[in-house]
This record gives sequence, C-alpha cells and structure tokens, in this order.
Amino acid sequence: MAACSYTCQVNYCCSQKPVIPKFKDLGASVSFNLKPFLTNLEHFSLLMDVPKVILKETIFKLLDNFVDLTFEFVDQPLSPSQSNFAPVEEIGEAVRVTIVQGKIPDDFPEGVYIRNGSNPLFGGLKSTKSIFGKSSHLWVEGEGMLHALYFTKEKGNKWNILYKNKYVETDTFNMEKNLKKPGFIPNIEGDSLAVLVASLLNVMRFGVLHKYISNTNVFEHSKKYYSIAENHMPQEINIQTLETLGNWTVNGAWSQPFTAHPKKIPDTGELVTMGINPLKPYLQLGVISTDGKQMVHKVDVKLNRCIICHEIGVTKRYNVILDFPLTIDLNRLIIGEQLIKYDKDGYARIGIMPHYGDANSIKWFEIEPCCVFHIINCFEDNDEQRIYQEDLLNLEG
Ligand SMILES: [Fe+2]
Repeated sequence: MAACSYTCQVNYCCSQKPVIPKFKDLGASVSFNLKPFLTNLEHFSLLMDVPKVILKETIFKLLDNFVDLTFEFVDQPLSPSQSNFAPVEEIGEAVRVTIVQGKIPDDFPEGVYIRNGSNPLFGGLKSTKSIFGKSSHLWVEGEGMLHALYFTKEKGNKWNILYKNKYVETDTFNMEKNLKKPGFIPNIEGDSLAVLVASLLNVMRFGVLHKYISNTNVFEHSKKYYSIAENHMPQEINIQTLETLGNWTVNGAWSQPFTAHPKKIPDTGELVTMGINPLKPYLQLGVISTDGKQMVHKVDVKLNRCIICHEIGVTKRYNVILDFPLTIDLNRLIIGEQLIKYDKDGYARIGIMPHYGDANSIKWFEIEPCCVFHIINCFEDNDEQRIYQEDLLNLEG
C-alpha cells in the first residue's frame, strides 16, 4: 500500500482553520461551576413564578451587557496576502455572468460548480480589547459562504452562466445574525486571560466555545450535498437555492466534529468519516451507508492524545489514519497558553485498519515526526492484505 502525502511543519493549510471541536466537557465544567448560582436563580424564579424561558433570556441579556461594557470589538486587519479573503455581500438572486476569460471547452458538462469559503459577518473578522487583554481570530475563521456557478447551454450551444452566493446558516450563524452584532468573542489567539474569559463567556451565552463556520469543503453523498468545516457536523444544502437545510447527524448517530474531507469506499460507495475531540475519545471513525441513512460502523480509535487530524485516506479495503504530534491540550486553555502545540519530540505514525476494524486491528507504522494535513492519494498494490494479516499474526504471536 502506498500513501502519498506531502508534509508541512506547524503551518496550517491555506484553506483550513485548526480545529478545536465543540468542547462539550468544558461547557459541562462551566455549567457545573455556575450551578449553585443558576440553581439559586431558578429557585428565585420559581418563588417569583418567572417562566424559565424569561429567566434564560434575562441571564443572556445580563451577560451580553457585560460583554458590551467590557469588550470592544475592533476590525481585524487583513495582511496584503490575505486580502482575497475580505468578505463580500450576499447578492440575493442569481446574476448572469457576462465576462468569461478564455474559452469553455465544447465538451464541458452542464451543471453546477460549487465551493465554500470564509466570509466573515459584519464586514470582517473582529478582534477584541478588554480589561482582560486582547484576543483575535485566525484569518480563516470567517463564516462559510457558498459560491455557485450554474452552467447551462442555450440554443446554438451558447453558454448561459449564472452566479449566486449565500451564507451557510449554521446554528451559530443564526445566533449572531439574530443578535445583529458580533457576539462570539474570538478565543484562538491573544492574551492568556482574554482567551480564557472569552471562552467562558462564549460557553455561558451560546452554549458552545466557538462558532461553527462551515467554510472548508462541499461534498456529496447519496445525491445530497453538504457544506462542512471539521469543527462541527455537516450542513445539508440545496445546491439550486443554496439554502441550508439543517445539520446532518446521520439520523442521530453522529453529533460531533466531522472531517471536512470524508472519503467514499471504492466499490461500496459507503462514506468514511472521522471526528476529533479534545477529550476522550480523541478520534472516532465512522462508516456511513451508501444511502446516507445509517452509521453502519463507529469506533473509537483509542489514541492516547488529542491530535489535529485533518484528513483520512481510504482504499478498497483499508482506512488510513494519521497520528501526528500536532496536539490540542485543554490544560493550555486553563493556563491561557496556545491550545495547539507541535511537539517536535513527539512520535508520528500512520495507521492502517480494515474499514470495519477497531482499535485492536490497526497496524501502525512509525515515521519521522512531522505534520501532514492533506493526503494526495491512497491506493493498494495488490499484496497489502497478505502483509497486513501476516503482521497482525506476528503482533498477536
Ligand atoms: Fe483541507
């Protein structure tokens, strides 16, 4: 088996933010610490006969006022090399493309070309200043916007090309849009205390640590289309209207981060995905049925550290897992350091497992410590099954 890949150091790929998945347990921890306060408020509300929904709104408003008074949102500058990533407006109805540079090949198929990308709300990414210090986003953290080109042929083989764009309306996009102002406080970079307080306030107000940005990839499965960033579930989209149809949970079986680059198994058409978490299970892998209705296999790979694994490989019989020393350490959030660390002395390995295997059936190959984000290709060279089985027997022996 050959897995062709290119390596990079700590630099993130140009289209991808470092994933920090939904920190459910951090949220749970925050809720735990606030429990006495919230319980007292609930008792108070019962005494006063205040409906829970009003109490919740009141707490949100109190916290929101605190953020307004304490945090100043300021435009985050784009460097010249990033200016292509300045946001554009939603244009509403599709518009005709009248200028085409070059020639569209005669045999080019009719259809839709669709992609997504970062397009921050409210005119651009915002940094914050506060008594706690400064915090900011990474430049890739803007909300996902879909861009679609529709190619149809008119009489006389003349091309008719339309362009349309639209935001992916994730849960957090809708929260901020309803607020009509920046709500989430950036918490990826900045002063230690500011990052910590930003994280706590995001969880307390919105229930999640950071925004779901859905800006990395668009993929198809079972004739349905999805927009995705790896820090959340995919959003199903209508590729004609570009409307967001909701989160894809595979009928409730997968409500966690989902790689932006899932892969189809040759022959069966099943979809292999994986999701990383900052707490155990650090990496889970799933196989989705060809019709997209069932999670037919789901397994904890049982890593002993939280890694940033951006992509998996899939061949006819195997999944290829990358375990590299780019890690997320929640303790760093508590002490206010960078959450993500590249450990030069750490180990790196490539794991090969059958599609329906488990942690015990992975064969690991240790390699020089490095960091790989994307896999260009994976394929089998005919004798992998024999080698894989012999090696497993040796391990068991
Ligand atoms: Fe990527």
